[in-house]
Amino acid sequence: MIYFLNLISLVAILFIVSSLIHFLITGNTPPLITPSSTREKLLEIIDLEKDSVFYDLGCGNGGFLIHLSKRFPKTKFVGIENSVIFYLVSKIRVFLSGRKNIKIKFGNFLYTDVSEATHLYMWIFVRDMDKLLEKFSKDLKNRAKVYSLGFTFTDKKPKEIVKVGNGKDFARIIYVYEF
Ligand SMILES: C[S@@+](CC[C@H](N)C(=O)[O-])C[C@H]1O[C@@H](n2cnc3c(N)ncnc32)[C@H](O)[C@@H]1O
Repeated sequence: MIYFLNLISLVAILFIVSSLIHFLITGNTPPLITPSSTREKLLEIIDLEKDSVFYDLGCGNGGFLIHLSKRFPKTKFVGIENSVIFYLVSKIRVFLSGRKNIKIKFGNFLYTDVSEATHLYMWIFVRDMDKLLEKFSKDLKNRAKVYSLGFTFTDKKPKEIVKVGNGKDFARIIYVYEF
């Protein structure tokens, strides 16, 4: 039992240290996971069909994609992640989940082709938002929907603002955009 607890502590410490190093090197959004109440709200408002293509930009551990893909088994899901650790973790999780409709790509979402996407989700630093606005304005078509947790584009108004609960807690406001 003590051996098991030590192992868990070691894994937790490795996780925290590697996240910190990743953050210091890349300046990227830290790999936080969308809170479960926010995930549930997203599940209520995201409506996918069999020909929809859903991207999670910065998919972290892949948990949100796995969750969504169970609800929408006919939709194609793509996760993009540029942290080696989280890329590998999400690949393994997707493999273990047996979901065939999720693809995890290693790379920087700023330079990845997302033109096939009909729906995109992201929870990223405000610094990257306006870079993505430029990219989305060029690449996205067919009235693609973008769900941004917590952060807005400077020069585009959200079509809808969805609050989780009173919207005051951390990561509880979803901005919905249409391109
Ligand atoms: C706040 S986490 C969100 C994780 C996941 N989407 C979720 O909601 O559970 C942000 C993730 O984006 C990744 N990330 C940040 N900047 C990135 C970039 N330019 N390209 C690819 N991934 C990036 C980070 O490594 C991190 O895993």
